[in-house]
Amino acid sequence: MLKGKTALITGGASGIGLAAAKLMHANGAQVVITGRDPGKLESARKEIGEDVLALQADVLSRESLLAMTARIKESFGGLDVFFANAGVAYVTPLATTTEEAYDTLMDTNVKSVFFSLQAVEPILRDGASVILNTAWLNQVGVPGRAVLSATKAAVRSFARTFSAELLARRIRVNAVSPGLIDTPILRGVGQSEHPGQSDAEFKDYLAGAAKLIPIGRLGRADEIASAVLFLASDASSYMLGSELVVDGGFGQL
Ligand SMILES: NC(=O)c1ccc[n+]([C@@H]2O[C@H](COP(=O)([O-])OP(=O)(O)OC[C@H]3O[C@@H](n4cnc5c(N)ncnc54)[C@H](OP(=O)(O)O)[C@@H]3O)[C@@H](O)[C@H]2O)c1
Repeated sequence: MLKGKTALITGGASGIGLAAAKLMHANGAQVVITGRDPGKLESARKEIGEDVLALQADVLSRESLLAMTARIKESFGGLDVFFANAGVAYVTPLATTTEEAYDTLMDTNVKSVFFSLQAVEPILRDGASVILNTAWLNQVGVPGRAVLSATKAAVRSFARTFSAELLARRIRVNAVSPGLIDTPILRGVGQSEHPGQSDAEFKDYLAGAAKLIPIGRLGRADEIASAVLFLASDASSYMLGSELVVDGGFGQL
């Protein structure tokens, strides 16, 4: 589905990003993954394929984003697919959240998506596909998730505006909206909601969450990767500025 195409996945060394990188690679794409942790990047590269370009890049640093773009241009000339996936998640109760915690969530999940796209836009080929990672939380109200939900609502909105802005170049921008997916990010959410949570308590926490999801379980990263592959490929050629929800019914029923 992506033969001859080059795809960049930020936060591609774990969870949803890693699953998407694997699936795009298996479907013929030249894959570039980024992240902050060199150890995680190297093991992901080995897991996906030796030809994967794994770049250390912090999405919070514009300098780092520009260096990443220059390296991709030098290696592959341009990009056909960009999955803006890197993000963080933790609870931010109204009464106790610090300004620093607020800023880190907003900066990582919103500002960095804007400046990641700004950095790579000059090397996106005409007709490229951009996929933004929003979340089921953008349409419901869950206690303690005000900032996280607002970041993902902003990302949802970006898909519309950027689609309009890049239309002349036939660049399609869509969002994938995962439900509760079993990835490393959930451990941090659990810890932020219940500081000092043990492994056993975390397991119970996830089991409790799974019961609230209409389909009866958490999602898997590969289930989101399938949706991302669809949005990345020409199979979704008539989709612009939309949101593909993959949430086991969590935000729907
Ligand atoms: N899991 C869910 O339930 C769920 C639901 C809805 C949406 N999402 C979204 O899916 C995306 C991926 O999350 P995940 O669930 O796959 O969790 P994950 O495994 O923790 O992945 C998060 C990725 O983001 C990267 N990242 C975070 N901050 C970064 C920074 N400053 N610079 C560069 N990379 C950074 C991390 O890489 P390093 O640590 O190496 O930097 C990591 O690879 C996030 O945007 C998340 O909000 C997840």
